[in-house]
Amino acid sequence: MFFESEKRVGVAAAFKAAEVLRKKLGRLKQINKKGANDLVTEADAESEKVIIDTIRGAFPHHGILAEESGGDIGSADCCWLIDPLDGTTNFAHELGLFSISIAYSEHKELVFGIVLSPMTNELFIATKGRGAFLNGRPIRISDVKTVSESLLVTGFPYNLENVFTPMMKRFVSCLKASQGIRRLGSAALDLCYVACGRFEAFWEQNLKPWDTAAGVVIASEAGSVITDFSNRAFTPDKMELLATNGNIHQEMLSLLDLKDKICEKN
Ligand code: IPD
Ligand code: CA
Ligand code: CA
Repeated sequence: MFFESEKRVGVAAAFKAAEVLRKKLGRLKQINKKGANDLVTEADAESEKVIIDTIRGAFPHHGILAEESGGDIGSADCCWLIDPLDGTTNFAHELGLFSISIAYSEHKELVFGIVLSPMTNELFIATKGRGAFLNGRPIRISDVKTVSESLLVTGFPYNLENVFTPMMKRFVSCLKASQGIRRLGSAALDLCYVACGRFEAFWEQNLKPWDTAAGVVIASEAGSVITDFSNRAFTPDKMELLATNGNIHQEMLSLLDLKDKICEKN
């Protein structure tokens, strides 16, 4: 019993959403703002609708927490966490780096995660205790041993107030210590790319459960160590996330530690 019917429905929902997003790319009629630089388009809403309709059609009593329509995981034993378009800013600028992220949890424990990249046709999927897969093939984190040999990835929250200075200090420390830092614009893909060894580490602050839930299952099933910036276990309601290949985790924690770095507020 490895949640095969739930996974089948989740994957079908992701592929339907991918179809919506591919059709919408470059043909948006409306780009609205949820905040100064936080965009939302009709593609986000249509993708979310098709995912929710597919899940509700099969599991009408499951809970759903989705970015655009909200929802509540509080009371439901079985719950879906959905980001219908992770990478909206890229999408609005016709950059094909975006994904659909769908996770499933039971009794508040993440069970499986699905991340689909519609423009590269890469489907990442992992079930707790059963390993992580990219298009059906098992994936593992890289075995790089030091940050100096590592390629890192990060992201920036939309609301920079209060986080700007510490965020930039961390960025500079990691930039100086590594082979480079990328900022892709889809946290779900960032986690999947750590999972398959393209990056050695990903860190970001202020992510939401729908950004991280699926990617965290995929990365940890591929061998990634995932904590907050103080090395405490990560859960999707936490504000800080560090996912690494394990080998460089302690080194990354000290680079992200602000103790010895003078840090005036903004
Ligand atoms: C965003 C992306 C981005 C991250 C932001 C997220 P959205 O999600 O994952 O990489 O840096 O913090 O909010 O808004 O495109 O779904
Ligand atoms: Ca997102
Ligand atoms: Ca989104």
